[in-house]
Amino acid sequence: MSTLHVEELDDRVVVTLRRPEARNAINAAMVGELHDVCASLEQRPRLLLITGDGGTFAAGADIGELRERGREQALQGINSRLFDRIARLPLPTVAAVDGYALGGGAELAYACDVRLASPAAVFGNPEPGLGILAAAGACWRLRELAGASVAKQVLLAGRRLDADDALRFGLVAEVVPAGELLKRAHALLDRMARSGPLALRLTKLVADGGGHPLTDDLAQAILFESDDKRVRMDAFLAGGRS
Ligand code: COA
Repeated sequence: MSTLHVEELDDRVVVTLRRPEARNAINAAMVGELHDVCASLEQRPRLLLITGDGGTFAAGADIGELRERGREQALQGINSRLFDRIARLPLPTVAAVDGYALGGGAELAYACDVRLASPAAVFGNPEPGLGILAAAGACWRLRELAGASVAKQVLLAGRRLDADDALRFGLVAEVVPAGELLKRAHALLDRMARSGPLALRLTKLVADGGGHPLTDDLAQAILFESDDKRVRMDAFLAGGRS
């Protein structure tokens, strides 16, 4: 892979965005490689950790490429389809954000299930300054994550959220020193990995599904019949707490 470093572990995949010459800006090659990662995770579900190399998460979509795109490319939803695919991955995803997460970089982080930040993290959507809108999820995901007031400050007034802002507004789960960011992200993934994989998967589907009592009941019906549930509950009742 030319724009990503990908580490495949038994229960997780760690993806590091790596285009140092462009502050990890998301270009067509990176979009293609992230789709390859998604295909692999859809085939064999594992947790996903996304981070950026060199003290930057990602400085947006590649502006050189954006400049050349027209209506047809916009309608292809090049970034929005990728981020939707990431959001719909079977198992939880975590973004570890150090430095700038701007434009499409911020939208990539918004598409993950949980975000952790270093004190240097900065989230922002400066797209209107480039004469376009943040069309890969920011207009609705940021609103869901941080509320309409914060989202409109970011989207309409160019407000950048530093790590403290992001924590206060609930956009990130935690702020940890840059040197501990990955360790903390792995600890979070370790905690997730201790849960039943099917239970995690169905919980994510139900939680993202808009909510309906029927889907809750159907998902629970599947889980109630699983061997994993019986093994875990037997272990609890036998006194083996995890
Ligand atoms: N697309 C393409 N190239 C980008 C880029 C992007 N989104 N963001 C940064 N780069 C390139 C710069 O053009 C520069 O290239 P050069 O060395 O050939 O001149 C290189 O990355 C380093 O960027 P630079 O601006 O010098 O770094 P900085 O540390 O001073 O600033 C940022 C970092 C992220 C604040 C700044 O690069 C920036 O504002 N980027 C654009 C953010 C943006 O508008 N994103 C939304 C896109 S939709």
